[in-house]
Amino acid sequence: MGARIGRHLVHLDLHAGSGWNSAAGCKGSPLAYLDAAQRAGNTNFTAFFVDHDPEALSILRKRLEFDNRLSNRVHIVRSDNEVFLRRLDTTFKGLGAYDPLKVFGSVLVDPNGLESPWEELERVFGKYPNLDLVMRFSGTTWKRKHKSSLCKGYSPTPAQVLRTLNRNHAIISEPVTAHQASVLVARNRPFKGKLPKGFHPIYSKGGIKIQEKLLFTSKERGNL
Ligand SMILES: C[S@@+](CC[C@H](N)C(=O)[O-])C[C@H]1O[C@@H](n2cnc3c(N)ncnc32)[C@H](O)[C@@H]1O
Repeated sequence: MGARIGRHLVHLDLHAGSGWNSAAGCKGSPLAYLDAAQRAGNTNFTAFFVDHDPEALSILRKRLEFDNRLSNRVHIVRSDNEVFLRRLDTTFKGLGAYDPLKVFGSVLVDPNGLESPWEELERVFGKYPNLDLVMRFSGTTWKRKHKSSLCKGYSPTPAQVLRTLNRNHAIISEPVTAHQASVLVARNRPFKGKLPKGFHPIYSKGGIKIQEKLLFTSKERGNL
């Protein structure tokens, strides 16, 4: 929640889904963001919930229909996320943000597999240094993909994500569920105070242990 355009915050959810996360059995990322905004008493934000699946978006729209916190602060966008990112400069200008340094915000990346529009993300994160990344990283999917002869596309490790997107500070959460799902938060401002429960600085002892668990099987870890 640290995003501001003038007095506005921006949030881009590139894999919004329907508003219900059936894999985890909890509210999906758009609702989680709106709840967090409400808890923080923040009403000055513009959120873009992007997904290419019209069915998921129609369910999401219904879920948000009765929510009067939203009015014109939320945009539900049916688009391929790469196309959305390509048009982002124009979108921000539409919000009155012409100076990339004054765009403060967060970008959520939560793919099912590991495919994400990395080239566009690299461009966007290079241009907007005050955008923070929040990314779900599944150790199970990553390992499966890297051991498969079908492995295609670029699926970076958490450390490679930081280098690619040029962010200086990052924390990572302990993996949960059968998918070994961790959340990586990366930004250009240091994290101050107590970290959220289960999170560790990425290069701390705890953070390195998490990365080993995400990237190596227990057998491989035994051989490290
Ligand atoms: C893991 S689900 C998202 C879950 C959601 N963030 C939540 O917390 O419930 C991944 C979503 O990304 C969407 N998606 C996958 N590839 C996409 C793409 N190239 N452009 C836009 N949306 C995409 C899928 O339709 C799906 O709804």
